[in-house]
Amino acid sequence: MDKKKFYITTPIYYPSGTWHLGTCYTTVICDAIARFKRKQGYDVFYLTGTDEHGLKIEQKAKEAGVTPKQFVDKKVANLKSLWDRLKISYDKFIRTTDDYHEKAVQKIFDKLYEQGDIYKGEYEGYYCVPCETYWTKTQLLDGKCPDCGREVSLAKESCYFFRLSKYQDKLINLLETNEEFLLPKTRRNEMINNFLRPGLNDLAVTRSSFSWGVPVSFDPKHVIYVWIDALMNYVTALGYAGEDDTLYKKFWPADIHMMGKEIVRFHSIIWPALLMALDIPLPKKVYGHGWLLMGQDKISKSKGNIVDPVELSDRYSVDAVRYYLLREIPFGQDGAYTTRAFLSRLNADLANDLGNLVKRTVAMVAKYNGGVIPAWSGNKVNTDQEIISLAEGTLAEVSKNMDELHIPEALEAIFRLVQRANKYIDENCPWVLAKEEANKPRLNDVLYVLLECIRVAGVLIEPFLPDTAEKIFSSFDGLTNEERAFDSVKSFGALKACGVIERDPIFMRVDVDKEIKEMESKIEVQEQKPETPAMAPLPPEITIDDFAKVGLRVGKVIAAEKMEKTEKLLVMKVQVGEEVRTIVSGIAKFYTPEEMVGKQVVVVANLAPHAFRGVVSQGMLLCADDGKGGVVLVSPEKIVASGSEVR
Ligand code: MSP
Repeated sequence: MDKKKFYITTPIYYPSGTWHLGTCYTTVICDAIARFKRKQGYDVFYLTGTDEHGLKIEQKAKEAGVTPKQFVDKKVANLKSLWDRLKISYDKFIRTTDDYHEKAVQKIFDKLYEQGDIYKGEYEGYYCVPCETYWTKTQLLDGKCPDCGREVSLAKESCYFFRLSKYQDKLINLLETNEEFLLPKTRRNEMINNFLRPGLNDLAVTRSSFSWGVPVSFDPKHVIYVWIDALMNYVTALGYAGEDDTLYKKFWPADIHMMGKEIVRFHSIIWPALLMALDIPLPKKVYGHGWLLMGQDKISKSKGNIVDPVELSDRYSVDAVRYYLLREIPFGQDGAYTTRAFLSRLNADLANDLGNLVKRTVAMVAKYNGGVIPAWSGNKVNTDQEIISLAEGTLAEVSKNMDELHIPEALEAIFRLVQRANKYIDENCPWVLAKEEANKPRLNDVLYVLLECIRVAGVLIEPFLPDTAEKIFSSFDGLTNEERAFDSVKSFGALKACGVIERDPIFMRVDVDKEIKEMESKIEVQEQKPETPAMAPLPPEITIDDFAKVGLRVGKVIAAEKMEKTEKLLVMKVQVGEEVRTIVSGIAKFYTPEEMVGKQVVVVANLAPHAFRGVVSQGMLLCADDGKGGVVLVSPEKIVASGSEVR
């Protein structure tokens, strides 16, 4: 009989920045699912890759003085070695610069054009020349470019549009009637209420302002803009619109497209619409997981709070990193990274519960039975029945959780067995049994039950923590492949290996406080070297008297909130001397209200009041450009009295 198929994808990654712990989240989750399905006997295809075209890459390559291809080649090599390091078992790595992908994208574009789903029109927007970017009116900040703060001008560009609006009703129907299509449920409601119901506009799908992209075959001045190029990877990787579509026929439609919540809109609206236009069956499920946060921010390079996954893996092991990502963050929601939570998980679950169980049990078998695995009498006395039932039921429990994408709960089920086994040691006190020869049969049964529970835990944990499973298996002498398979843990007693081998502990406990000190100094808050962009041209020279006209004062933020219906503005109450002023500032993308409260800032205190969306701002905060489109606040280097003069 043919094996059942399972196709899972991560988004394709932008090879533009450095990789941090948050970047690894989607990939590690998908890896655990893919490995689990393989172990369940599915024929699995796990796809990941890189999204290499677009203006950003073109610019970064220019800054680095290399061609875009040279730039992405280097980044992709780094990313692949990170995935190798984290034991990511992908079956294919697609690059959007792969020749077969580019050709397929052109073919798809031609087809959509020929059938009228793509048409040529004019794109109108506010154009920022230095950033070469179009903005909509609502995206502008104070009428200026929200990235660089410079003047923008209304401009038009001819480009191609995809008739997204045509698919609006079908998409509403899809999301409303197929409850499994987009999960978690909250994201479905968000898509319907915030995007679909208000109405869809046709989508600009080409650009002519940059050239690093797949050219439109019949109009090569235009390149196919990221989302068609990127989204199509899920089918072109399988050979769709290519020379050999065997994999496409075998694996499409995808079982799960996994991704972070910020790109759910593209995958649950644009992607199905494109597939509908192409008459391709829709994927079975789109899942938008939450973010790994550091403080309040999504972990990302631009926030300057990288946690380097390689460094963490080198120091604490790859499986400690995998375990943290899989176990700690409630799946579907955001989770805050803290070094303490990371190390506490390592200590409590991996070193104490699992590591100790293996170490103690193997040592007892060595001591009391010469390292030989005793035969099991099959007597299920007293406490044995309970632990045996638990062990026999754990596979079903883990599988159910995995089917429902309850990843942390799946691990919890395995660790319930581990904890129960530790309790079983305390209940049966093998060291007391060992004192009387008459207790030898019972001692042997106790040891066997423990070893069997360890084996079951090892078998089940393998998809999540492959290295750990290997270490557990290596404690058994002569363990066969059958004894490593899921089938062997459905009923208790399949352990046949002949002996145990004493090994180093699977995980070492760490001194949390000591590590935290060291680790936190490594979290590179603002340690990255600021890039040095060309300095903005200076305004005409001023005299000291001119400067004295600017009333700069130190203030302290005592309250802050986001202005409703904007993404960029914070409204703050700032104590300046005796006064409390309301100040509106366009920093909401870079600082959360919580982060702002308590901060000392520099205020232009004699600036004429200005109304932002009806809120009058009594001053302005000083910020410095960070050279990456963001800003950092200017603050006094030491705490000074509020109201102090800045000169
Ligand atoms: N290139 C697009 C995807 C196109 S798919 C047709 C993209 N790339 S990305 O590199 O920005 O993101 C890749 C994946 O990493 C996404 O699933 C994203 O959500 C995830 N993460 C990046 N930072 C993250 C966290 N801090 N936390 C969790 N996942 C996040 O988007």
